[in-house]
Amino acid sequence: MHAWICDNPIGPEALSWKEVPTPQPRPGEVRVAIRAASLNFPDLLIVQNKYQMKPPLPFVPGSEYAGVVDAVGDGVTQFRAGDAVAAFGGMGGFATHACVDAQLVMPLAPGFAYEDAAAFICTYGTSHHALVDRAELKSGETVLVLGAAGGVGTAAIQIAKAVGARVIAAASSDDKCALCRDLGADATINYASANIRDELKALTGGKGPDVVYDPVGGDLAEPVFRSIGWRGRYLVIGFAQGGIPALPLNLALLKGASVVGVFWGDFARREPQRNAQALGELARWYAQGRIKPVLDQILPMPELQAAFARMGSRQVRGKLVLTNP
Ligand SMILES: NC(=O)c1ccc[n+]([C@@H]2O[C@H](COP(=O)([O-])OP(=O)(O)OC[C@H]3O[C@@H](n4cnc5c(N)ncnc54)[C@H](OP(=O)(O)O)[C@@H]3O)[C@@H](O)[C@H]2O)c1
Repeated sequence: MHAWICDNPIGPEALSWKEVPTPQPRPGEVRVAIRAASLNFPDLLIVQNKYQMKPPLPFVPGSEYAGVVDAVGDGVTQFRAGDAVAAFGGMGGFATHACVDAQLVMPLAPGFAYEDAAAFICTYGTSHHALVDRAELKSGETVLVLGAAGGVGTAAIQIAKAVGARVIAAASSDDKCALCRDLGADATINYASANIRDELKALTGGKGPDVVYDPVGGDLAEPVFRSIGWRGRYLVIGFAQGGIPALPLNLALLKGASVVGVFWGDFARREPQRNAQALGELARWYAQGRIKPVLDQILPMPELQAAFARMGSRQVRGKLVLTNP
């Protein structure tokens, strides 16, 4: 098998694509012949040594992938060779094969494309947990999605529309805003050229959004939190801009608003049954055509470094996917 090896976590440029021994699944694991893997922002942070989790070296990055089970370890009864699956294993996906705990594997219904399945679990799982579970977003409420053309952002637009909310999508270019409107956003704000507070005031009749979905952080967080509506819920998803913002807590008091932390990975570990229920609902929505991953580019697996460069330079619209022949 081949795998991208990280033995010096200074960035994607230090990764190397190597032939390595094919691993045997341990008890409770399955081995997946990977057809497609996708990039999530934490994959970039991990190879830069900037993520909270710092795996021992060397490691194979790649948190999420889909493919075909080609071997099962002792004690695995729910999968067998030939099953189509997707997995969020945290590691090992930028390769031709990976062994993963069978409990982290999702079976794929016929018709679920490998490219879509590889781009599904993390972004849709995160946005469903954030909007449906943590914010309890209701039909008719208004949600503002920041970084709305990115991976979790595009999933958030589709899930908010699926529950009947009004979506204001915000992104850094007119092109990205156009993509968000194509995905069903009711209104858009280009925060590189417009004053986001003025736009939010005009778009909500001065009330402010009920829910803010923020995967960007940095200098966007405080102005947006100042604009949130009464009983608003501010979802802390991530800090793609790099800076971790600080919010004046008097604003929470004045708006009766909540700052709500979202950590999907830990939710999935601590509450596996609720996560499985959410993924089941999302798979049904996919089969019904109500949600569909937005694929920015599909590249051959050996072009991982170009994919990382695209993500790091903020060009990605939706998800980047890498495939094996
Ligand atoms: N809390 C959780 O459980 C959870 C789960 C998954 C991901 N996340 C986090 O969510 C964030 C987004 O992840 P993603 O996979 O959706 O990434 P992504 O596809 O790259 O999207 C990130 C968006 O952030 C914006 N951005 C602003 N400044 C940026 C910069 N300096 N570099 C790159 N992007 C920048 C970009 O939109 P504009 O150009 O339009 O500003 C971009 O579309 C990350 O911080 C990630 O760690 C959190």
